[in-house]
Amino acid sequence: MTVPVLTIDGPSGAGKGTASRAVAKLLNWNYLDSGSIYRSLAIAVLQSNVDLDNVAEICQVANAMALEFECGDELVVRLNGCDITSQLATETTGNAASIIAAYPEVRSVLLQKQKDFQQSPGLVADGRDMGSVVFPDAQFKVYLTASAEERALRRYKQLIEKGIDANLLQITREIEERDRRDSERATAPLIIPQGAHVIDSSTLTIQQVIDVVVDLVR
Ligand code: C5P
Repeated sequence: MTVPVLTIDGPSGAGKGTASRAVAKLLNWNYLDSGSIYRSLAIAVLQSNVDLDNVAEICQVANAMALEFECGDELVVRLNGCDITSQLATETTGNAASIIAAYPEVRSVLLQKQKDFQQSPGLVADGRDMGSVVFPDAQFKVYLTASAEERALRRYKQLIEKGIDANLLQITREIEERDRRDSERATAPLIIPQGAHVIDSSTLTIQQVIDVVVDLVR
């Protein structure tokens, strides 16, 4: 029997991470935060002093990296045995992730690592191309979005809560730039996957988003 998959795609800061984790917990399904795979690779690449335009070496780093995920209340990620959780959320990591994610060769190295998460009893997969490329046959697809201003404000609050220094204007610019790069890239751009249920979370609470998504699956 095929393991059911719920994909939740959308731009950064739309609330995908919080909603996906909560829905996975409620359904007792596994959770794939695909952004954290791109972010972990970005950290590995920055640590190895590989240039962000050296696609061949980035692929080598991607092939060699060993990632471990621990899904408790917070996601804990280990890269080659070292806990890199605190570096994952920074804007430096996010921007580098978005640059290397535009290379088709890099995406294809990371494809199988993501597919491997489809384990019983089910999977909630969060990202940009979950419903369009990685799990095109997913039974349930959601596209979660919100206005750029609202997303920037949420990201700002998230960073401040984590004790990371942040500037709202700069975050707004970076979110717009990242949206542009993620939507305009040739390979696996951010799109509304066919058959996806679109939710605009600009005026919804996170609980309302979770309720809509869980209703969809149940
Ligand atoms: O979702 P998050 O902000 O953690 O993702 C970081 C970056 O990784 C995104 O800006 C995007 O460029 C890339 N990404 C991707 N495909 C995914 C998930 C993330 O290209 N499925």
